Amino acid sequence: MTAMTDKATSAFTADDQRKLFSLLPTGVVAITGMTADNKPSGLIVGTFQSLSLDPPLVTFSVGKGSSTWPALRAQGKFTANILASDQNDVCSALGKKGDDKFKNIDYRLSAIGTPRIPNATAWVDCHVRSEVVAGDHFVIVGSIARIETGFKHALVFSEGKLGACTTLEPQTKTSTSKRQEMLSRISDAWMRAWGKGETKAFEELVSKNYVRHSKSGDTVSLPEMLKQIEDSHSAFGEFNVDILHAIDEGDFVALHWRTQAKHTGTFMDVPATQREVTVHGASFMRHRDGQIVEEWVVWDPRELLASMEIWHLGDQKRMSA
Ligand SMILES: Cc1cc2nc3c(=O)[nH]c(=O)nc-3n(C[C@H](O)[C@H](O)[C@H](O)COP(=O)(O)O)c2cc1C
Repeated sequence: MTAMTDKATSAFTADDQRKLFSLLPTGVVAITGMTADNKPSGLIVGTFQSLSLDPPLVTFSVGKGSSTWPALRAQGKFTANILASDQNDVCSALGKKGDDKFKNIDYRLSAIGTPRIPNATAWVDCHVRSEVVAGDHFVIVGSIARIETGFKHALVFSEGKLGACTTLEPQTKTSTSKRQEMLSRISDAWMRAWGKGETKAFEELVSKNYVRHSKSGDTVSLPEMLKQIEDSHSAFGEFNVDILHAIDEGDFVALHWRTQAKHTGTFMDVPATQREVTVHGASFMRHRDGQIVEEWVVWDPRELLASMEIWHLGDQKRMSA
């Protein structure tokens, strides 16, 4: 087997790695234990997970710079408190360095003598089974002594933010995935039509009564819109259309697009300048029964005229008219 390396992604920083993994939501778990002088202490981890069912094991990792973990490790036991969505304050108190982290946190002792934070989603009381050093972290394996589940939704950490983990909506064929399918059909057909001048897929996607509304309030029908595409392609060459953002919501699809091309023919009464032009715009399309019924398009002709470098000519023309 040959390993493939993507050149573009082979050089990355610790910050790139941190950012990438922040996209993956994690639970927020308070690892708590008693210190040698019988005081509760703890830290937050996003790395807590089930490791083995037989025997029942869990794992998490702790940075080597942690001052809390060595004190808990010395006692050989801990409770993993799976925090609930209303326990941000516990996360703030235990998720950073501090002298008396439990100052404002209530707790009860578990059957194995570790602190359990009330109102959590669940509690997993464990004995430290093993620990290995992996880079700048310790990977800890705990063997489960007891588990107990509460009734709350878990707190979740994702993209640098804390949030609630409520029951996820199942992706049914009639909702999300169907909408996403429509989004990709529309954006593919739209790119093909405007980017390559191949309008067949778009024509097949629009309904008989399709109307396109412009910013000025004008409307055009499908044949008129196809003529606009044809005119654009005869006035511009080397067309390149990118969709910068694509959003679907309800029966709407929104495309934020950018067109780059070379001005090689007459357009808006302006003869070919041979300049590279750029235009940004947005199209909002309403669809019904798998067909686009209406479209609203917003773009700024001044951007086009400015990139043709004839914006001043446009002004002079208007002034002398
Ligand atoms: C949401 C969240 C997740 C975290 N996950 C981890 C983790 O998996 N491992 C870790 O070592 N620190 C993690 N931290 C940071 C520790 O909680 C923090 O560094 C620790 O409490 C520092 O204090 P200490 O020196 O008293 O241990 C996380 C913090 C937050 C807020």
